[in-house]
Amino acid sequence: MKFDVNEDIRVARTIPSEFYHSEEIFRNLKSMFNKSWQFVGNTDLLETCNVHPGILLEGMLDEPYILTKDRGRIKCLSNVCTHRGNIVCKEACDTKTLVCGYHGRQFSVDGKLKFMPEFEEVENYPGPGDNLPEIETGFWENMIFVINDRRCELADLTGPMADRMGWLPLDKFRFKPELSRSYEINANWALYCDNYLEGFHIPHVHKELNRELDYDEYHTEAVENVVLQIGIGKGDEATFDLPVSHQDQGRNIAAYYFFLFPNMMFNFYPWGLSVNVVEPVEPARTRIQYLTYVWKEELRGKGAGSDLDKVELEDGEIVESVQKGVMSQAYDRGRYSPTRETGVHHFHLLLQKFYG
Ligand code: FES
Ligand SMILES: [Fe+2]
Repeated sequence: MKFDVNEDIRVARTIPSEFYHSEEIFRNLKSMFNKSWQFVGNTDLLETCNVHPGILLEGMLDEPYILTKDRGRIKCLSNVCTHRGNIVCKEACDTKTLVCGYHGRQFSVDGKLKFMPEFEEVENYPGPGDNLPEIETGFWENMIFVINDRRCELADLTGPMADRMGWLPLDKFRFKPELSRSYEINANWALYCDNYLEGFHIPHVHKELNRELDYDEYHTEAVENVVLQIGIGKGDEATFDLPVSHQDQGRNIAAYYFFLFPNMMFNFYPWGLSVNVVEPVEPARTRIQYLTYVWKEELRGKGAGSDLDKVELEDGEIVESVQKGVMSQAYDRGRYSPTRETGVHHFHLLLQKFYG
């Protein structure tokens, strides 16, 4: 498949529709996701438990991992037993020893092999290959990211977010499992991202959100692997109270929407943060992890960040409708609006650069 997306948005055509449904393209994306930083949660996950298992991008990377906290230090380990490959840790808990439920191999929470029954006669044992391998982690404040095959620094990705949002006390943002969920839609992951990357559809698809935001002032900027969209409120109610020295001081900002390539969205509202992790499951199936971090509970019902469930539902519906369209033989590529779709164009250029 040839992307052939022109750098000049005025002449560019969108990526071929094949990208959104081909099995082969979907399989080839694995290498791109392997080299990308992935958000796995904030340090609240290890507040009451010192081990927390998960699967990295289930459906795409399928990498079982455990976040562990050992004497204050957070690490990410493989959750695959070094004996014969069973999954070691099944649920988050507080423990000194990880015990594999298959034949009883034991590991300490830093991943070191501790004990294995019936292995007295085994030669050259234990060796480094008997410990649980470490998966590389990176942090932005209390946010935890992991990567399988690191080619770039996490700070390059989170830098634009740190520049603008660094003034926020992220350590006071509490993860709210009861306000978080995961759901699936029948559409390609990149269509979900395309849709996220423009405010062009807001007046048509999100009638209520449109009452909160000033459409003419909606602003998009793209820097390397990040796209930032800024939603300006119609009034100054439910907007950010920015520090005096902040670059956006004087603007009525209702929301900062950061897209971190290839699949993460960090949406800051005056009440806190909502993160979307977009997980490709199949070419036309996507899981969205929707994680909520609350800072100022009293502001949660107000402004652009108030009825997010409704907005998500509306986005899910439109994206599923587009999936049906891009699978048609009658459609291949479209064009971009130079005033409203610079974010989508930038995303497509990044796909063109990193895919394969
Ligand atoms: S697979 Fe874990 S002890 Fe055998
Ligand atoms: Fe939307």
